[in-house]
Amino acid sequence: MTHLSPQRPARLGRRDGFPIAAAIERELRRFVDTSDVGYPMGLRQTGLAEAFCEHMAERFEWAIEPARVEPLAEVVQGLYLAVEAYSKPGDGIVVQTPIYPPFLHAVRELDRRLVENRLVRGDDELVFDLDALERTIDRGTRMLLLCNPHNPSGHVASRAELERLARLALEHDLIVVSDEIHADLVFAGHRHVPFASTSPEIAERTITLSSASKAFNIPGLRCAVAHFGSEALQRRFQTVIHKRFRGGLGLLGMAASVSAWRFGQPWLDEVVPHLQSNRDFVERFLAERIPAIRFHRPRATYLAWLDCEALALTPSPAAHFLQQARVALSDGRLFGAGYDAFVRLNFATSRPILEAILERMASSLGPRSDARIADRKGPRRHGDAS
Ligand SMILES: Cc1ncc(COP(=O)(O)O)c(C=O)c1O
Repeated sequence: MTHLSPQRPARLGRRDGFPIAAAIERELRRFVDTSDVGYPMGLRQTGLAEAFCEHMAERFEWAIEPARVEPLAEVVQGLYLAVEAYSKPGDGIVVQTPIYPPFLHAVRELDRRLVENRLVRGDDELVFDLDALERTIDRGTRMLLLCNPHNPSGHVASRAELERLARLALEHDLIVVSDEIHADLVFAGHRHVPFASTSPEIAERTITLSSASKAFNIPGLRCAVAHFGSEALQRRFQTVIHKRFRGGLGLLGMAASVSAWRFGQPWLDEVVPHLQSNRDFVERFLAERIPAIRFHRPRATYLAWLDCEALALTPSPAAHFLQQARVALSDGRLFGAGYDAFVRLNFATSRPILEAILERMASSLGPRSDARIADRKGPRRHGDAS
């Protein structure tokens, strides 16, 4: 969200930059003004774990203990550490694609076996395919890496979906790592349910990863947390890799995260509607001007997962838009096998910039932007993998 700047809200409105929450800015200034940039106190003194737990309780009615929270530099670090801690080389790990690429890297680079389960089209969004998941899990599958809300689809799993996932995890004795970093970016009418909150039994096999960095736009400050649903899970995480290898966290990242969770909500209450209105704008623009791109409406995040298959762009949609429109989108093929025709657009920006992005994309296509979805080879059904 580096260039987030809404079109109008006065308090938020610099032209090309989106000011961080005032509470975070004040806190960072306080450290700088007093030259207080030494080592942080111990975790307990920073209040990081407590602030995270309070935020989870207030926002998601999830009651958890600060003692079960470990600080991390980043969520991706937590993903790698968890794969290392709870599985061994060759074990199967389920990932629901398309997926934020480090999920795939963690499995492959640590020599685990990637068990891919593709999202499918629901009414107007992509959803988890739990029937296929049930068939996909085999005897060698040990873990499920869940991303909820899901990057890049913006899918927000319902309680019913999570309960079914939980049943599968229990039946197949899976450890679940639930990356919930986008939990605070859920749009009106939808609700984030922490996976570990679905039942005490599932909590005991779930590690939840989170950070204030996505919602509050402070990823450069490097601070995240892992919550363990049981002492045994936490002990294993702590002993498999010595804590010293993780390194210490910076004072500013921890202080900013505490401020975000304790005092950042009013800022977030302005930002999320802006993101939602950008989401709606993308949807309208594509429907009117580039109907050939299939849009799956995200319920959370600031990401649009765009199916460009009908355009048959070469050498790839991402390369086409970069070369012909000077618009940098994330290349779909990074998100799993079979997504070569997709790109991911980040719409956390000002409306003028978003408009310019979409206008450039449309101009780069010329008359092709009108190719209808129906022009595709063969019909598409509800439930087709996309
Ligand atoms: C689902 C998801 N997890 C993790 C991250 C990265 O978090 P971190 O910088 O804390 O590793 C992102 C960033 O986009 C993300 O979308």
